[in-house]
Amino acid sequence: MRIVAMEGFGGAEVLRIAEAERPRPGAGEVLIEVAAAGLNRADILQRQGHYPPPAGAPEVLGMEVSGTVVECGPGIKERWKVGDAVCALVPGGGYAEFCVAHAGCCLPVPHGLTLEQAAALPEAAMTVWANLFATDARNTPRLFAGERFLMQGGTSGIGVMAIQAARARGAHVAATAGSAEKCEFLRGQGCERAWNYREEDWAAGAAEWASGGVDVILDMVAGDYFAKHVELLGVGGRLIHIATGHGAEVRLDLRKVMRKRLTVTGSTLRSRPVEEKRRLRDAVEAELWPLLASGQVRVVVDRAFAMEQVAEAQQRMESSAHMGKIVLRMNEKMKQICA
Ligand SMILES: NC(=O)c1ccc[n+]([C@@H]2O[C@H](COP(=O)([O-])OP(=O)(O)OC[C@H]3O[C@@H](n4cnc5c(N)ncnc54)[C@H](OP(=O)(O)O)[C@@H]3O)[C@@H](O)[C@H]2O)c1
Repeated sequence: MRIVAMEGFGGAEVLRIAEAERPRPGAGEVLIEVAAAGLNRADILQRQGHYPPPAGAPEVLGMEVSGTVVECGPGIKERWKVGDAVCALVPGGGYAEFCVAHAGCCLPVPHGLTLEQAAALPEAAMTVWANLFATDARNTPRLFAGERFLMQGGTSGIGVMAIQAARARGAHVAATAGSAEKCEFLRGQGCERAWNYREEDWAAGAAEWASGGVDVILDMVAGDYFAKHVELLGVGGRLIHIATGHGAEVRLDLRKVMRKRLTVTGSTLRSRPVEEKRRLRDAVEAELWPLLASGQVRVVVDRAFAMEQVAEAQQRMESSAHMGKIVLRMNEKMKQICA
């Protein structure tokens, strides 16, 4: 099969199309003939050598795919069979014509969506559910209807999904982005307010928007944003981190946490055990898939690139020119059903 290989770590120039052995599914796994793979910021970090894949994961880039099940490994208790159209969260190996996925990390392609759109879903959907809507041991999600939700990095793949899902679940939503054009796009996605963080004082804007305090912030910036977030949150507010673009080390005045009874938390998805991912998969399928079918949440694919254009695709992500998800078409044979 053809894969996107890396000749060492570095810029997009290390990416090459190469031949590799087709993988075989192990116990509880399926083999997917990949139609499309979603791009993620983590792919760039992995290519640069800053984000090694977890132990046992393939070295090949790619954390989410869509396609057709072509082989089931032993011990599959799930409903998947050869010929099923699925999308899947994978620990790696998605930039290839064939990819192994755990059965518990596969989802059916949502009704009415193309395989190209489906490839853009697993990582964003599961990250957003893990951090905002999946219920904890006390059956409590983090974001409720009627609350004020601030999304930092609103036009990211994660941001667009979070904004749409939060709107669909009845939250008031505001977001930041790096240009006026992106802010216009965010208002079109249902944001009540959107601030260009390069030119506007987003913290002052958010404080004015949520006079009683913001209820929930989903953040990928951290660093100097942290203190502003602690100020912005209202009583019972929840600050959730999924990345640390401006730095991971922060100072926290615990008196502010106590006074406002704040929750400061965060999570990573890739390192979670398969059983946790299976539970997230179940929540996403039960709660998000109907919103996709009804059109209340729409997949925003910024652009689809052919496998051979992988360097261009990653450069677009690195430039942050995109809004929503970037996908790679991995299989020319499946182009028609992707389109
Ligand atoms: N913890 C987890 O489980 C998890 C899972 C998935 C992704 N992530 C992380 O979540 C982030 C988004 O992932 P993605 O794949 O969706 O990436 P992406 O589409 O490349 O989005 C990253 C966005 O961050 C925005 N940004 C950069 N600096 C900013 C700032 N100071 N304020 C506000 N926005 C800023 C950029 O847009 P502008 O042009 O607006 O700057 C860029 O579009 C990445 O950091 C990724 O590593 C974490």
